[in-house]
Amino acid sequence: MDAKDVPPAYSPFAQGSSWRRGRVRKSRAFRVVGITFLAFIAFAQWRQLSSAPAPPSADITVNGLSLKRLQEDLVTCNKLRKKPEDPIGPGRDRNARYIDGHAPTLIKNATVWVGEPVKGTSAENARKGKGYRWIVSDVYLKHGLIKRVEQSIALSSVAKDAVVYDAKGRPLTTGIIDMHSHAAVGSLPFLEGNEDSNEASADITPFLRSIDGMQVDDHQIQVIKSGGVTTSLILPGSANNMGGEAYVIKHAVGKPDGRNETSAADLLADPDRNWRFMKMACGENPKRVYGRFGEQGPASRMGESWEFRHAFEQATRIVREQDDWCDAAAAGGVENAKGYLPQEIRWESLGALLRDQVRLNTHCYTIPDLEAFVDHTNEFKFKVRAFHHAHQTYLVPEILKRAYGGEPPASALFADHMWYKAEAYVASEYAGKILYDNGLTTVYVSDNPVINAQHLIFEAARGYRYGLPYHVALAAVTTAPAERLGFGKRLGKVKPGFDADVVVWDSDPLSVGATPVQVWIDGTAQFENPVMLDKPKTKLIVPDETLAEIVEEPTLLEDVIFAGVSNILTAEVTSEGTGKVLVSKGKITCVGACEEEVKAMESASKSKIPVVNLRNGHLTGSFTGFGGTLGLNSIDAEATTDNGDDGDVFSRAEDGLQLDDKKLHVSYRYGVTKAISAPKFSGQSTHHGTSTGFLTGATTVLEDGTVFANDVAVHYSIGHFGRGGPTVSAYIGGIRRKLLDAAALKQAPSDPYSESAYLQRVVNGSLPLAVIVHSADIIAAILKVKAAVDAVTKSSIRLVIVGGGEANVVAGELAAAKVAVILLPFLSYRLTWEERRALTGAPLTNGTNIDTLIDAGVDVAIGMEGDYTVRTLGLSAGVAFKNGGGRLTEKEALGLVSGNLYKIFGIEEPSVKEGHFLIHEGNPLEIGSRVKAVAGGQGQVSVF
Ligand SMILES: *[C@@H]1O[C@H](CO)[C@@H](O)[C@H](O)[C@H]1NC(C)=O
Ligand SMILES: *[C@@H]1O[C@H](CO)[C@@H](O)[C@H](O)[C@H]1NC(C)=O
Ligand SMILES: *[C@@H]1O[C@H](CO)[C@@H](O)[C@H](O)[C@H]1NC(C)=O
Ligand SMILES: *[C@@H]1O[C@H](CO)[C@@H](O)[C@H](O)[C@H]1NC(C)=O
Repeated sequence: MDAKDVPPAYSPFAQGSSWRRGRVRKSRAFRVVGITFLAFIAFAQWRQLSSAPAPPSADITVNGLSLKRLQEDLVTCNKLRKKPEDPIGPGRDRNARYIDGHAPTLIKNATVWVGEPVKGTSAENARKGKGYRWIVSDVYLKHGLIKRVEQSIALSSVAKDAVVYDAKGRPLTTGIIDMHSHAAVGSLPFLEGNEDSNEASADITPFLRSIDGMQVDDHQIQVIKSGGVTTSLILPGSANNMGGEAYVIKHAVGKPDGRNETSAADLLADPDRNWRFMKMACGENPKRVYGRFGEQGPASRMGESWEFRHAFEQATRIVREQDDWCDAAAAGGVENAKGYLPQEIRWESLGALLRDQVRLNTHCYTIPDLEAFVDHTNEFKFKVRAFHHAHQTYLVPEILKRAYGGEPPASALFADHMWYKAEAYVASEYAGKILYDNGLTTVYVSDNPVINAQHLIFEAARGYRYGLPYHVALAAVTTAPAERLGFGKRLGKVKPGFDADVVVWDSDPLSVGATPVQVWIDGTAQFENPVMLDKPKTKLIVPDETLAEIVEEPTLLEDVIFAGVSNILTAEVTSEGTGKVLVSKGKITCVGACEEEVKAMESASKSKIPVVNLRNGHLTGSFTGFGGTLGLNSIDAEATTDNGDDGDVFSRAEDGLQLDDKKLHVSYRYGVTKAISAPKFSGQSTHHGTSTGFLTGATTVLEDGTVFANDVAVHYSIGHFGRGGPTVSAYIGGIRRKLLDAAALKQAPSDPYSESAYLQRVVNGSLPLAVIVHSADIIAAILKVKAAVDAVTKSSIRLVIVGGGEANVVAGELAAAKVAVILLPFLSYRLTWEERRALTGAPLTNGTNIDTLIDAGVDVAIGMEGDYTVRTLGLSAGVAFKNGGGRLTEKEALGLVSGNLYKIFGIEEPSVKEGHFLIHEGNPLEIGSRVKAVAGGQGQVSVF
């Protein structure tokens, strides 16, 4: 990097010293400056700038320096040494963000989660959750603040113009906070021209500012808010070791959201900018982006550490020079200074970090990354407030506790998103719980658009499911991020004096499908006509402490009795009653009282059958994971663990199956005993070739029954998936040509495994054609291809749309053509242009795509948007059930992740009768349920 690349100075005078010294004569006479000279100085300053050469000036010291500039430098010294404090909350009359003219609001009859325990709760008890409770209360908002949280606030006691909102007893929480978002800098739908989250031109760029890239009209800001998220930390991406400054925004944009203007500055959560924020990143990304051997580093973690240390060394030097200058100026008077305050914009923000004016958030996954970074904090004496993507922090609490500053960094995590690259391979859904057990803080984040931040609350809900106490899970998206951002006195609680960011939910916020019915930001309601889901009123969650008991290694049993099964959610089992499920050699032999059957079995085997007692046990079929890469790769980004991208060569998934890996073990453990996968085409969500159905519990394909369906369907992907090659029109034309050619074949091709042989079966309707596509236009084009080919064959292609982001637009046509849709993702958030017409759900849209498709009579199922979702297929079915307005029964909802797939593909499902079933404690559609036993058709049951 040579000197020419140093960016321009940030103050108009920063580089003035050299030229000014050359042009202006020293003058003792004007050394002393009094108040009466100020006007003249200003004038002289203007003259100097506007015309050269300048006349002798009053503004000159003994050393030929501008006195005014030196005095400004002295003011800068104060700024440099200012220690920010968390901005005050209580004690304000009004929120600095409040816009005049907005009426106060009285929210009546809410059930409020305050966010802290009742007064007098000891710290130890609070940690355990004692003293936290839901309280029935009214909440009064005025001047952008929460003014009162009291029972039965009398109308006569509030402003006459107050808007009254009846919460009808619903849960009310503070606005959700996302401490890791790229909304606005990477707006959606994704367009290259709008992608501004990474300045991947240099690795060390602490001087960049995410605010300079924010597209405030990013529709995703509104979608995120519709999930109750009111505040986000907008970070630069993680391509660079030092990515730049970040900004905390609120999700209220422009006049429609009650703001003064449409600007990034108007979004700032703290207009006074007390704290600054910064993003750094270690590990795979920077070395992947920059490392070019022999040319440019960093190409290794060693190289990255050097980049960090070298940068910190520069900033440390400047901080020291500044301190020396400021000390000398304070002691000897600025007029005696021999030069100006040293400043270099390149290192300014990093210097501010070293001065503890910046809250640093660093992306680090692995133990070596964490250890090296903690080492840097101690070498250069700066704090890191949270490690993000901190998958492995749960393994090394001691390292976190060694971080500089005495307060261990929090871990900003996903609940269960992992395996996508080597540094994400070692990870645990129990990380949150383990960190909590070690006295450390967990924050759940979205990394929007990696995860749709609209559903951030669902990350917290899953944190609860994986063993974090309820109050800690909720804190992980409210009080914990508020505190880490330095907003602990303003955000994260429903208390007088806090910002009036509140959410009224339609059900317990940590329950499956919880959806806001209204959201307020700084006291202003954000949705004019919010769509409210038609949902029965449900009870609040009673925290289940037994979720913290983690059983990872199952006991394998051939014969077992499950007692306490109160619900049977599979059509395959008809029973006189509930109670027991008797299992023999891994298969169900009796459901109900089963007294005679147990007796007979025990006398035949001359031994007691073990009994597993359940609370609220549920029996279901097992789940099927469709549409991911299960069985075809272990780590997405690692070629050697992967069947590979096929480069347009038609192949069969069965030929590439690789089993017995971590993903499949976890799949099995969470009840996904079956999977249907097709080879990757050009990436994660594109597929090509024939898919295969296999058992996730198998060790190799040679075992009997591993593959239950050799070729499930022929898959093609059409769209823009970042692929070079043919145009969409050429690709659709190519498929039509292939299908018509197959229809014209007079006999079977000699190779029964060739594309044309499979297509011969596709055109006569005996093998489904699965087309991966989002765009309604491309779906329409494919429907026309089907019609054209069907007209020739007088048969009907069994067409399945996979993806279907815009299937809602052509729902009627799909139903008429008897074309099924497997939604992938289940809940689209318009990630790509081709999904821009997807429905993102209440309170913004009336239902989501699945509702429209069901109403139209389309057969629907749910696919996996990433293999990590194997843990939550039952919960996705739960969202469809709960937010479906009565469209689905519980059994039908479970069918979305099991039976429907088989119906759609026209293949036999390995059934409950054949020993594919699950025993859950709790309802599998609910957050507090867990899989207690899994039978995967292998003659035994894994009991957890
Ligand atoms: C909003 O705009 C008005 C009029 O320009 C101005 O007086 C007020 O200070 C602004 N409020 C905020 C919070 O920016
Ligand atoms: C609060 O709402 C609940 C649920 O709708 C209702 O039963 C109760 O009567 C309401 N209470 C008041 C004071 O309005
Ligand atoms: C469809 O074509 C395949 C291959 O020619 C053939 O084996 C199969 O029997 C046909 N099925 C129907 C329903 O015509
Ligand atoms: C949402 O859609 C359903 C079914 O199409 C309809 O009955 C209902 O009135 C709609 N609700 C709103 C708020 O538009």
